[in-house]
Formats: sequence, C-alpha cells, structure tokens
Amino acid sequence: MNETEAVHQAAEIIRRGGIVAFPTETVYGLGADTFAPLAVARIFEVKKRPHFDPLIVHVASPDDLGRLVTDIPGHARKLMVRFWPGPLTVVLPKREEVPDIVSAGLPTVAVRMPDHAMALRFIELSESPIAAPSANPFGYLSPTTAEHVREQLGDQVDLILDGGPCHVGVESTILSFSEGKPKLLRPGGVPVEEIESVIGKVEIVRSETQSPSAPGMLPRHYAPRTPIVLAPEEAFDSYRNRNAGYLVFQEPVGGRAFDHTEVLSQKGDFREAAANLFAAIRRLDALNLEVIVAEAVPEIGLGRAIMDRLRRASCEDDKIYYDQAGS
Ligand code: TXA
Ligand code: MG
Repeated sequence: MNETEAVHQAAEIIRRGGIVAFPTETVYGLGADTFAPLAVARIFEVKKRPHFDPLIVHVASPDDLGRLVTDIPGHARKLMVRFWPGPLTVVLPKREEVPDIVSAGLPTVAVRMPDHAMALRFIELSESPIAAPSANPFGYLSPTTAEHVREQLGDQVDLILDGGPCHVGVESTILSFSEGKPKLLRPGGVPVEEIESVIGKVEIVRSETQSPSAPGMLPRHYAPRTPIVLAPEEAFDSYRNRNAGYLVFQEPVGGRAFDHTEVLSQKGDFREAAANLFAAIRRLDALNLEVIVAEAVPEIGLGRAIMDRLRRASCEDDKIYYDQAGS
C-alpha cells in the first residue's frame, strides 16, 4: 500500500468510527473522530488513560474551529496566524456539541493544526476534526516514529500511518485562554519566548497546582521504565561503578567517556536535541540498565521543553501514575 492509499484508508476507518495512529511534527497521535464518543472512548481504553485527562483536537485549517469553539480571543488569533500549522495548542471555550469525553467535562477544548502534510491530508479526508492524545500507554514517553507505536500499541489500533520520524520531537506548547489572560500549561515545540514576542508576557502555571485538569503536567509523566536522574556532566563520574546509561546534550570534549551514551546533538543544537530526545531515552530504556543519568540543559528556548520532560521522566513522587503506566 502506498502513502496516498494508506491515508485514504485511514480516513475511511475514522469515518466508520475506528481509531488510527498518525504522525505529526511533534509526536505520533492516536486519533478518532471528535464527534464519535464511542471511538474516543476506545482511545482512553487502549492508552489506559484516566477519563479526567482531556484530549487535543486536531484541525486541518483554522476554519474548522467554527464547529469546536464559541470564541477566539484576539491574542489567540494572532498566535494562530503566526504559529499554525505548528506545535502550538490553544485552549478555548468549547461549543456544546463537543462531546464531554473529549474535554473531560471541562467547558474548554484544546485545539491545534499540525505542521505535517500527511496529518493534514488525513484530517481533511476524515471530514471531521481528529481528537488525539499522544500514541503511547498513559504515563510513558511519547512515540516519535511509527515503530515506537507498533511496539507498544500495535495490535490494539486499526491502522498506523507511517510518516517517518517526527521532526520537532517534543509535544506542542499548550496555552490556555480559558480565564481571559493567556497561561502556559505545558512548554513544548514553540518556545514561550516566541509566544511572548507576539502577545507579551504569559503566565507560567506550575504543575503542582494543576494536576487534575492537565495530567500532561503531572509530576511523573513521559517516563521510561529505567529510573532517570538529572545531573550536571561533572557528576557523571560518580556513576562509573553502576550499570548506568548516559544522556548528554552535546558530544563531550575529548569524546565519550562512558559506554551506553546517547548524544542528543553533536553540535549542541536545541532543535536537534528535542527531535532526538524520546528515541534516545527509549534506546537506553531497552538496555535494562540500573539508571539513566541525564545531563541538565539550559532552560531557554526549546531547552525549557526538554528539561520539563526530563524532570517529569525522573520524578519519583507520583507512584500512582507510574504504576498505571506500567500496567
Ligand atoms: O504535540 C502534541 O500536543 C501531541 C500531538 C499528538 O498533537 N499531543 C499530545 O496529547 O501531547 P496528550 O494528550 O498526550 O497531551 C495533551 C495535554 C494533556 O496534558 C491534557 O491534560 C491537556 O493537553 N489538555 C487537553 N485539553 C485541555 C483543556 N481543555 N484544558 C487544559 N488542558 C488540556
Ligand atoms: Mg501524552
């Protein structure tokens, strides 16, 4: 089956109430017709995702928002003009017709237009906006290749569209307009500095205060099985006698000192590092190591999203969600 046929088949599955994994520029999503609650319910089942965690609705054009939201504030509109298609999700007041299972009963809905030709074609042909979380078991790292999806959810989804590796590699930035002033709920593919250059200062919500309505912000999330610790590169030596893997930002001066080292970007480029992040952690996770030691990166630009994911992957606080993810 060639790509065009695969996309047509995927859309046909959606129109008949099925679920399809599909590529976006950030990570792979697991999608259903937003207006088919039973199909959306299957996504929650397959992911073992708690029902209080709402989904992002993916559109092929800003024109599709008319079916989803009641109001688009001026600042949100400006951001869409600047960053769509792209890794920015905005949370807006929802229309009554958007099923509660999609929004987890909230009066808002999260929407974004992905920057990926195959995804856009798939949404268009489906003739409905596509509700989709990342295509991983709840709590685990998001998939950035079709192979990652196949390994974890392969036999439980109706089709996996293969669009190659995701070029952004971390999830979208989520900005909420639910209470008038814009609030950053999750750092992601669009750096907050770029958002602020368009609409001015944005409030950054800390995860502790938000957990029930936005589990992507739960302390322990995006986690591999192997424990991760965050450490400065100078501290790596102290793990020498343990069965450790290393995740470094840039090729160390003088080459690699340890076995099992993943370099996120040879030349220290944040974009490249973000695109490699989840696949690199997955490769280390597959080695059955005692611990993964990850180098902290500066929290500017995409470095903020990278550190956010590393912190959540390393956090030991939230055993409940970790256990769910492992089941
Ligand atoms: O890049 C992405 O955003 C990827 C691709 C597939 O689009 N999707 C993704 O979805 O990361 P998911 O479900 O793994 O994360 C969505 C996050 C969750 O933390 C959820 O709580 C939050 O978005 N969210 C969704 N609707 C919301 C709403 N109405 N209010 C607040 N947070 C919301
Ligand atoms: Mg997710």
